[in-house]
Amino acid sequence: MNKKHLVVGNWKMNPTSIEEARAVVAMSKKAAKNLKRTEVVICPPFAFLHLVKVDNKKIFAGVQNVFNQPAGSFTGEISPQMVRSLGGKYVIIGHSERRAMGETDELVSQKIIAALNAGLRPIVCIGEKTRNQSGEYLQFLRNQLSICLSLLKKKHFSEIIIAYEPVFAIGKSFAEAMQAREILETVLYIKKVLNDIFGKESASCACILYGGSVNWENAKAIIETGGVNGLLVGRESLNVETFPKLLTSVDAVSL
Ligand code: 13P
Repeated sequence: MNKKHLVVGNWKMNPTSIEEARAVVAMSKKAAKNLKRTEVVICPPFAFLHLVKVDNKKIFAGVQNVFNQPAGSFTGEISPQMVRSLGGKYVIIGHSERRAMGETDELVSQKIIAALNAGLRPIVCIGEKTRNQSGEYLQFLRNQLSICLSLLKKKHFSEIIIAYEPVFAIGKSFAEAMQAREILETVLYIKKVLNDIFGKESASCACILYGGSVNWENAKAIIETGGVNGLLVGRESLNVETFPKLLTSVDAVSL
């Protein structure tokens, strides 16, 4: 479990120019400087990773995907070892936008191990597409977790982070983010599944993030009452006006 709140910015395929990327990195570093209880990770596209020079312990670099092999004839792919050698520390694995392009739970399970072997910390995304009254999404989440973590040894459990991102809440109006109470219910269920797979001790120290339409106005409530250790933030992490406000509001929540 992280000792601090963890805020991870997923820039997705944005921005389109290096000048804009530099401005967002500068804003994020400035905003992270005076935080006391919050660790900030920014995950730009690979092309901009070199801009995030890690010069203090308040901000870290990550990427949004890696391949499941260290090197070889895999045109267009990037290995976890390459990311590590560029100073990257984290990697988002199994984001729903990648799953929509065909990434399976089995591939996610392999990528987790490949990332760990290279010394990266995987942020493993899970989340149901829809919900209905019958509660089938709970079984969906259980299956997703069981397969994605099937190759993970118990002793490595503390090195991974779970990001709960219900697909229906991603990229919506900020008012449509999940409510903190609903997040708490699902996080408790995720912990129960982790308990079943890895045992009580591991589950109790799991690091779980919420993602899906988080902004500076709802972030604090989600951290306070959502039962999560942090946030996986999309659009708002690129907003030079409001990302600093988000970080300050999270940092105000006692640990
Ligand atoms: P938004 O915060 O833009 O909804 O994106 C969430 C997300 O997918 C982060 O990984």
